[in-house]
Amino acid sequence: MTRHHHDTTQMDWAEMAPMLERGAELGTPVYRQAAAWLGELAPPASVRRILDVGSGPGVLTTLLAEAFPYAEVVAVDATPPLLERARARAERLGLADRVQTRHAELPGDIDTLGEADLIWSGNALHHIGDQRAALAGLARRLRPGGLVALVEGGLTERHLPRDIGLGRPGLESRLEAVRAEWFAEMRAELPGFARETEDWRALLAAAGLTPSGARSFLLDIPAPVTPVVREYLHTFFTRSRTALEGRLADDDIAALDRLLDPEDPQGLARRPDAYLLAAHTVHTARRG
Ligand SMILES: C[S@@+](CC[C@H](N)C(=O)[O-])C[C@H]1O[C@@H](n2cnc3c(N)ncnc32)[C@H](O)[C@@H]1O
Repeated sequence: MTRHHHDTTQMDWAEMAPMLERGAELGTPVYRQAAAWLGELAPPASVRRILDVGSGPGVLTTLLAEAFPYAEVVAVDATPPLLERARARAERLGLADRVQTRHAELPGDIDTLGEADLIWSGNALHHIGDQRAALAGLARRLRPGGLVALVEGGLTERHLPRDIGLGRPGLESRLEAVRAEWFAEMRAELPGFARETEDWRALLAAAGLTPSGARSFLLDIPAPVTPVVREYLHTFFTRSRTALEGRLADDDIAALDRLLDPEDPQGLARRPDAYLLAAHTVHTARRG
């Protein structure tokens, strides 16, 4: 039996802050590889200003500041508490002199952001209704020869074997399927929503840019995981349960409840087979 949808497709970014921050921190090795690749496409000595669009808590902002040591890096986001985290992180890492934060709502505020040699946008564009207009705006912000790098698509993260010994096998596949429905509804409710084929290379070209390659980077944290990863998994599955509850069958909700029970020997806190595996795709394009 599937319940009525009483879930929400509105994102509560401030509430998600700890999960976003921890998730990006766990991805750090992968994002360092991505930044090193960008350093080949855009030699660090030539990069003076970077915009991290939809920066969230600024994990990538500070990584970019480290990878591009001559650049000022601006964390751009519409959620003030996330920008506060970005500021605090930059201070902790001794990067406050080169990291700034900028409160901006995209796409409307794009033209206020100033010029950049590199624009990074990680998993943020898909939260903007009119992605084509947003990309055109970002392309306008690039200096000649500048590079844009979008993290979009790839493979969604997985955490558990197909059969977890609880409920029906295939829980994560079913979660992924209902998450895709949820995602489409979330997008359809965004202001200015326009449906697009998510062909990032074509969308970048339509924004007047020259595509310069895409690469995928594997995040592979095998079982058994550390307490920090377990805590992230707990937050991830708690959020899935809350957001997707109305779309899941009763037995899947029951399996999720057992996974989330800290005392359950089959729960995420104790099971030895939980892992974190994901692929992040970075699409790049250059302004001629
Ligand atoms: C999934 S998070 C990604 C955070 C970070 N880039 C990362 O990869 O870890 C999406 C971010 O986009 C921001 N965002 C969503 N819609 C936005 C908009 N219209 N204008 C500016 N920022 C937006 C949210 O506040 C959130 O921080």
